[in-house]
Amino acid sequence: MAEGVPAGERGFASGGSAELRASAGALAAGVVNGDVTINGGGARRSVAWPLLVGVIPTEADCFQHREAVDRLRAAADEQVLAGLGGVGKTQLAAHAARGAWRAGEVDLLVWVTATTRDAVVSAYARAAVEILGVDPRHPDRAAEAFLAWLEPTGDRAVRWLIVLDDVSSSADMKGLWPPASPHGRTVTTTRRREAALAGRGRRMAHIGLFTEDEAAGYLTAVLSAHGRTEDPAHVRALARDLGFLPLALSQAAAYVVDAGLPIEGEGSYRRLLADRTRALADLVPESELLPDEQNAPVAATWSLSIERANAMRPTGLARPMLEIAAMLSPNGIPQSVLTSRPVLEHLGIDDPAQAVAALRALHRLSLIDHDHDHDPGRAVRIHALVQRATSDSLAMEEREAVARVAADAFVDAWPDNHPDIIITRGNLAHWQAKADASPPASPPPPAQPQ
Ligand SMILES: Nc1ncnc2c1ncn2[C@@H]1O[C@H](COP(=O)(O)OP(=O)(O)OP(=O)(O)O)[C@@H](O)[C@H]1O
Ligand SMILES: [Mg+2]
Repeated sequence: MAEGVPAGERGFASGGSAELRASAGALAAGVVNGDVTINGGGARRSVAWPLLVGVIPTEADCFQHREAVDRLRAAADEQVLAGLGGVGKTQLAAHAARGAWRAGEVDLLVWVTATTRDAVVSAYARAAVEILGVDPRHPDRAAEAFLAWLEPTGDRAVRWLIVLDDVSSSADMKGLWPPASPHGRTVTTTRRREAALAGRGRRMAHIGLFTEDEAAGYLTAVLSAHGRTEDPAHVRALARDLGFLPLALSQAAAYVVDAGLPIEGEGSYRRLLADRTRALADLVPESELLPDEQNAPVAATWSLSIERANAMRPTGLARPMLEIAAMLSPNGIPQSVLTSRPVLEHLGIDDPAQAVAALRALHRLSLIDHDHDHDPGRAVRIHALVQRATSDSLAMEEREAVARVAADAFVDAWPDNHPDIIITRGNLAHWQAKADASPPASPPPPAQPQ
């Protein structure tokens, strides 16, 4: 058993100063939070603890405390924060990491932008160079040395935290997961939801949207930071329009402030947003004016995820499936609609199982929530802004054609549909035209403006 940090007091919550004692192999001596000499492979090296490798992303303007912050801090296991692009996973991880660093709860913090395998290797290599003084010209070997050093051997008790931000595939991480250790903890963020990312002590935690209160609180704070006092009811309505998505809220707030637009009433942001002839991309700031060091407008943020889902087997089906789902209700679409004959024909397949596989690919990239078992009538849920961005990406004729397929699918699957199924306003006309031509066996579902 290592000394210094008692087992069970891992990661952020571990307190006290960890003493480093001489041990066999790579060893350290002294007290953490000072200069420490490490003997590794014969070379003596002085490391100034605490050590930060990499850059923790800047905290968002008016950072909104959310329940997930407390859950992450209290969690004792390795967390994999998974969710749709823009829900705030990186902000959560950064907040937790910064908190642990400032509170002196960790001696080593490595922030890894983990979008590619090479990026992970080079971050580990950088850490190895700093800590072990290994040769930086061989990143693979250096990364291996770092992972070996993290193993809880001997009496070494450097308390570490590694954040793997934006892991884009479990394959990238093969052989690169930090080991389980009583002294260290790994937090991962990813858009992917797949079994291979969890396991070996890692637990997947789904990160969702802001709650309505969080979204309204955040918008109010940002607007008032720019001298704007708004009617709370208008702020809430705007938060709802944006589906409580943090990324969209931040960009909308920046746009409203920069353009000096009212939120409600004539010429307001809400009116512009409700105008379906306007693209989402035109309702957020230009690239250089995006808030919080963001680099993509909300409409573009999911394009890579869509590409990745589309590349999954059965290849080429996820994108057209998402386009159809974009025409239907964000509140829940029965699977039977999306596996109906018109959809299969549109996708060029015969087997409904392939349509389900396309839904699973979208689910794995967090672009939709697919859960057939619990509520078959609402098996597929999709964020309204993902729908809007997807439909914006289509030319007018394509959009019309896809909407027609969606309407055909709906009629084809009737009357198996859940009675509460709603069709978005943008496509209601298509659906109604179709429904008029072939009336359903039971009353049509209530349409609700989106
Ligand atoms: N807790 C928060 N308080 C204030 N703003 C936030 C918060 N969380 C997220 N945001 C806003 O949302 C934006 C997107 O957040 P973040 O980058 O953390 O999303 P993400 O889930 O990591 O997305 P991606 O999958 O694209 O990496 C931030 O730049 C910030 O403007
Ligand atoms: Mg992120």
